[in-house]
Amino acid sequence: MLIQKPADLDPSEITPPELYARRREFLKTAAVLGAAALLPPSMVQAATDDLKPTPYKDVTSYNNFYEFGSGKTDPAESAGSLKIKPWTVAVEGHCEKPGQYVLEDFLASHTAEERLYRLRCVEGWSMVIPWLGIPLAKILPRFQPTASAKYVEFTTLLDPEQMPGQRTRLLPWPYIEGLRMDEAMHPLTLLATGLYGKELLNQNGAPLRLVVPWKYGFKSIKSIVKIRFTEQPPATTWNLEAPSEYGFYANVNPDVDHPRWSQKKERRIGEFFRRDTLPFNGYAEQVAGLYAGMDLRKNF
Ligand code: MTE
Repeated sequence: MLIQKPADLDPSEITPPELYARRREFLKTAAVLGAAALLPPSMVQAATDDLKPTPYKDVTSYNNFYEFGSGKTDPAESAGSLKIKPWTVAVEGHCEKPGQYVLEDFLASHTAEERLYRLRCVEGWSMVIPWLGIPLAKILPRFQPTASAKYVEFTTLLDPEQMPGQRTRLLPWPYIEGLRMDEAMHPLTLLATGLYGKELLNQNGAPLRLVVPWKYGFKSIKSIVKIRFTEQPPATTWNLEAPSEYGFYANVNPDVDHPRWSQKKERRIGEFFRRDTLPFNGYAEQVAGLYAGMDLRKNF
C-alpha cells in the first residue's frame, strides 16, 4: 500500500476538516476493519464494539455543557470560571435526613471506583470513558428517603456570574434532570467525581456529575448542587425545552428515532466509521427489566 508522507499531502484536501486531525485514528480503524472482513460476523461485532477508551484529550475538549455555551469547545475554553471548592449539595424533599452537606460529607468517605462506560449523546456521537465514581445507590439510603420518594431530581448550580451561558436564554436555567427511584438505585448509576484516574475537570461537570450509561448523555447532569426526592416525575430541562424531542426516560433506543434524525447509528469520537447503536447503549442485559411492560415508543 502506498502511503504518501504528510509533507506530500495536505490532509484537508482529502478529508473533511473535522476529521483530518483524526487521520491517524482513521488509518488504525481502517486496518482493524480490513482484518475484521476476514472474520465471521459474530467476531466482527466483538472486534468492532470493543470498549477502547476515547482519548483523554477528546473527553476533555469535546463537551456539552450549555452553561458555558453551545459549542463543543466552549466548555473547555470557559469553564475555568467555575469555582468548585468549597461545594455544597442540598438534599431536599421526601426524606428523613434533608440538609446542606459539604461535598466530602455528602460522599461520606466512599472511595471512588473505576467504571468504563459508553456515553451516547442524542446528537449521534459517543465516547468510552473510564469514570471514577460512587454508585448513587451507596449514597441515597443515608438520607432515608420515605415511601413517597418515587423519583430523584438533580439540579446544576445556578450562577450566571460563573456560568456565562446562564446569562443567555439558551435553555431554561438551572439545568434539571431526574430519574425514577429504581433507576437511581440501579448499580450502574454512578455519581462521578473523576475520569481517567484524575479529578473531574470543570468541563466534564466537576466536582460531581451523574453518569447513567444506558440513557442519552443529557441525563448525565453536571456540577450538581441539589438532590430532591419527589413523588411526581421531575420537570427536566430538555423535556421542557422540546417535549416532542426529549422524553423523561431518554433510554438509548435505536428503534425510536429523534423526530429530526435517526438514532440507529453513532460515531464514536476518534473513529471514522459509524457503528450500530445498541439498545440501552449496550446495557440491555442489566437494565431492560426496569422497563418490563412499558411501551418504550410512548415512554421515550
Ligand atoms: N449538564 C449540564 N448541567 N448542562 C449541560 O448542558 N449536557 C449534557 C450532559 N450534562 C449538560 C449536562 C449532555 S447533552 C451530554 S451529551 C453530557 O453532559 C456530555 O458530557 P461530557 O461533556 O462530559 O462528555
